Amino acid sequence: MKILVINGPNLNMLGIREPAIYGGRTYADLCALIQRKADELGVDVTLFQSNSEGELVTRIQQAYGREDAIVINPAAYTHTSVAILDALKAVGLPAAEVHISDVTKRESFRQISYAGMACQRHYIGMGFEGYLKAMEDLAEQYRSSNG
Ligand code: DQA
Repeated sequence: MKILVINGPNLNMLGIREPAIYGGRTYADLCALIQRKADELGVDVTLFQSNSEGELVTRIQQAYGREDAIVINPAAYTHTSVAILDALKAVGLPAAEVHISDVTKRESFRQISYAGMACQRHYIGMGFEGYLKAMEDLAEQYRSSNG
């Protein structure tokens, strides 16, 4: 199984950006945890981070025929990007939405998630653990539908 883990804008600044909200661990720490979880689950993982909406859309499109599931934290584009929503719908892969912080308890402009509308699973406010749980659940889903 191949899982694509996508992170949107400013998540490369983890550890520096607003540590009271996002914690003190870095994007490299997150990547290491995700890689370790992939090894534990026996799946291949590809990590992709971009600050650009178009690059995120292009990478989602490239997952078609290449990866089996997507874990995505679209960051600020969660709340603005119909293009990312449409890309997720276009490829039609099982997808999980992750947010490190609990967006449901934050500003009103964070209360809509366009990308989330194309995701069957949601991991909100679980910190880095949300990515790992998303991978576990997608791997389990893949196993049960592919023997
Ligand atoms: C975030 C929440 C978004 O509202 C914000 O713009 C981010 C990170 C999160 O992981 O909690 O950049 O997606």
